[in-house]
Amino acid sequence: MQVWAVANQKGGVGKTTTVVTLAGLLAEVGYRVLLVDLDPHGSLTSYFRLDPDELDESVYDLFERVELSTPLVRGLIQHSSHESIDIMPASTALATLERKAVGKEGLGLQVSKALKLVRDEYDYVLIDSPPVLGVLMVNALAACTHLLVPVQTEFLALKGLERMVRTIEMINRARKNKLGYTILPTFYDRRTQASVTSLRELYRLYPDAVSSAVVPVDTKFRNASLKGLVPSSLDAGSRGVHAYARLLRGLLERCKQE
Ligand SMILES: Nc1ncnc2c1ncn2[C@@H]1O[C@H](COP(=O)(O)OP(=O)(O)OP(=O)(O)O)[C@@H](O)[C@H]1O
Ligand SMILES: [Mg+2]
Repeated sequence: MQVWAVANQKGGVGKTTTVVTLAGLLAEVGYRVLLVDLDPHGSLTSYFRLDPDELDESVYDLFERVELSTPLVRGLIQHSSHESIDIMPASTALATLERKAVGKEGLGLQVSKALKLVRDEYDYVLIDSPPVLGVLMVNALAACTHLLVPVQTEFLALKGLERMVRTIEMINRARKNKLGYTILPTFYDRRTQASVTSLRELYRLYPDAVSSAVVPVDTKFRNASLKGLVPSSLDAGSRGVHAYARLLRGLLERCKQE
């Protein structure tokens, strides 16, 4: 089982869209996919028409128990509207976690421990992470075998990325196996100077980490989210879906070697 987390300390860069689109593409080729929503806003959860305000069971429960069991973890997973995609949803209670976690030891590995208990049931797990460096993002980084960092192609985003890369380096100092990561340029618009220049800058600053796939601005993503569909089932031929398919080919190749 591979676990890919999608994280960036900056909001609105395409994290949730990346999770949903990759999930759709992986499911289409027959993989069993589990999504984990670690964002208290629950955008991924809402995407699949579950209500983060109404859920009795959610990923939050992982942080309430000291001991996790396979039945407990399975009980937190729901089928999504899409065949082959399951989801461990977020509830708004997650927002209280950062405060509660202060001073509590060991909460950083809850997601990792939970995923180990269902590792034979899925081929890929994709984790959506909140744009805040706290206990939830730490859980995402600790649980994953590869990290994806979407970055909007604009100048302010590059500053945010610097912070994220420093966080990864810090995490890597504590890990036996170094966490590999891929920077994914998003919202690319080749007609704007800011996009073109910042993409060039990304390749210059992080030549080994930036994906050759670049996600363009594509309004189809919004249309797909309004319908609650994975983008590839709404329009498999769209430019945005093409970019994610290219990203996926690169990731599958790379993760074979890691
Ligand atoms: N490549 C794209 N082109 C056009 N719109 C996009 C693209 N990627 C995402 N969007 C839209 O931009 C908005 C923000 O994207 P998304 O929710 O994926 O970002 P996020 O990083 O998860 O945000 P947050 O930090 O708030 O969780 C959504 O409405 C989404 O449909
Ligand atoms: Mg999001």
